[in-house]
Amino acid sequence: MTVRVGVLGAGTVGGALITRLVADRDAIRLKSGVDLEVRKVAVRDLGKERPFNLPEDRLTDDSLAVVTDPAIDVIVEVIGGLEPAGDLVLAALRSGKPVVTANKELIATRGQEITEAAKRTGVSVMYEAAVGGGIPVIRPLAESLSGEDIDVVSGIVNGTTNYILTAMAKEGRAYEDALTEAQRLGYAEADPGDDVSGRDAAFKTSILASLAFGERVAPWEVETEGIENVTAEDVAAASARGEVIKLIGSARRGVDGRVEARVEPSSLPADHPLAGVSGVTNAIFIEGPSVGRLLFTGPGAGGQATASAMLGDLIQVASRGRAPRVRSAHDGTPRRQVLHR
Ligand SMILES: NC(=O)c1ccc[n+]([C@@H]2O[C@H](COP(=O)([O-])OP(=O)(O)OC[C@H]3O[C@@H](n4cnc5c(N)ncnc54)[C@H](OP(=O)(O)O)[C@@H]3O)[C@@H](O)[C@H]2O)c1
Repeated sequence: MTVRVGVLGAGTVGGALITRLVADRDAIRLKSGVDLEVRKVAVRDLGKERPFNLPEDRLTDDSLAVVTDPAIDVIVEVIGGLEPAGDLVLAALRSGKPVVTANKELIATRGQEITEAAKRTGVSVMYEAAVGGGIPVIRPLAESLSGEDIDVVSGIVNGTTNYILTAMAKEGRAYEDALTEAQRLGYAEADPGDDVSGRDAAFKTSILASLAFGERVAPWEVETEGIENVTAEDVAAASARGEVIKLIGSARRGVDGRVEARVEPSSLPADHPLAGVSGVTNAIFIEGPSVGRLLFTGPGAGGQATASAMLGDLIQVASRGRAPRVRSAHDGTPRRQVLHR
């Protein structure tokens, strides 16, 4: 069975994913039973050099034409941001094509609309890579733990800020200095605003909270404070108390029954399991009365790790065609009634 894939975007993640799809096509087919063919790739700049080997006519700058091409079965969205990614994803779903995306901003912000569109045409939308990069946490939360009455989900979900805070704690660097170093090493964007303000972590916390508690928690409902105001003195004072400052995203059900979600710099005892999570690594705790405390940890970003999560999603949707969807974070159905696999 050959499944023809259209990829929107070929940057850090898209480039790594397409490279794997092209180079490992036979190995993927032998292991998974599905033959994934990269039929078209949409980019913004056709003149840019790409890391993968594909005939020139497979690249286009017309992303809508990829979505509407009847010769394409599945769409992978790795453009990022709300537009045009959102409209392209919706157009794909409306035309009955499953979508795999890594776009946390889009899923956190328009997840409900996207899930409803997928439901209408009976196709899947999968977004394992949207939280925790290469760490499998979305499917465990949405599927394996769907019978667990989750108490808390919390963790380090932004590698850039964790790199900066680690450098401040371990090397005594000032915030600006650690940020510049993160940019030099490619761990922070030229414009690091979304990371250091906590906005990126709020998108991810919103997705985790929605899945964990079976109700929509919008990103603007996540109380958010970034790390811009954390000083070298704060970090040194925490260290003198035997503590470590980390940017923690968390969600729990409050006494009034409402889900409380927040992102904030938090001082943790040095022996706390998250205190030792260094650099760009992510770590997410899920706690429930039956399973106790589960920890998911690993590379929270990077082309190859993120592409690995997307490839897993792609193989899933390709092998089940129009069969069951992953439970949605955003369909607003109470948790216990959404086990429609
Ligand atoms: N980078 C990571 O480690 C990571 C980890 C987890 C999740 N993600 C998510 O993955 C997504 C992609 O991130 P990225 O780091 O790969 O971004 P990126 O390197 O900036 O790549 C974006 C790609 O989209 C293309 N593009 C932009 N506008 C387009 C348009 N209108 N039509 C067609 N293509 C267009 C760009 O084309 P050109 O190449 O021609 O400019 C580029 O190839 C985002 O949602 C991000 O949040 C990233």
